[in-house]
Amino acid sequence: MMIRIPGLLSAEQVAHMRGVLSDTDWVDGKVTAGAQSAQTKHNLQVPEYAPAARALGEIILGALGRNERFTSAALALRVFPPLFNRYDRGMNFGAHIDNSIRFVKPSLGTGAPIRVRTDMSATLFLTEPEDYDGGELVIEDTYGTHNVKLPAGDLVLYSATSRHHVTPVTRGSRWASFFWIQSMIRDEAARTTLFELDNAIQGLRGKLGDNDEVVALTGLYHNLVRRWADA
Ligand code: NI
Repeated sequence: MMIRIPGLLSAEQVAHMRGVLSDTDWVDGKVTAGAQSAQTKHNLQVPEYAPAARALGEIILGALGRNERFTSAALALRVFPPLFNRYDRGMNFGAHIDNSIRFVKPSLGTGAPIRVRTDMSATLFLTEPEDYDGGELVIEDTYGTHNVKLPAGDLVLYSATSRHHVTPVTRGSRWASFFWIQSMIRDEAARTTLFELDNAIQGLRGKLGDNDEVVALTGLYHNLVRRWADA
């Protein structure tokens, strides 16, 4: 499953993020890569626990929480705190599959880290496509290869089981946020079915209103979620 969420952030929010990020220290992106992907990862990142990253991450988490399409597609149990990366001219990230489990340090104290199983990967574009060449996110799934390069403020949500890479930037600089989602619905086919069912029900509601059958279908949707979800 690969889903585009257009306009997750407003132009003002994107401008705010770019302003904060331009005043931030960037480090080698290998800091959050596994041993294998570190060999092919050539980019820059804002350190994971930098206050600027956390503050911008909260804005993204707020936008996700208000977005119906994201809510329906992800059925999120946990969202990894958003990270920020940058590909300047000549930088790229070779083909890899993201780590299956990520750890989030608790914000206070010395408790055990929170584990996030990465069911879905997300990239939020923060540079307009005309401002750089290359830097395409290429995702391979069972339906073939998809080249993704979206307007600033748009998000792409895709299965974390897919192999993907970022092509070299040949002009300009590509800025983005990236993070992972643990879904309440572990099974991808079940998650996709629920998303399509929800879309169909919402379409019917728009045409017919809440008649008996629409109410019954909504009930069936919730009963399937109840059956399949870990919450
Ligand atoms: Ni990746």
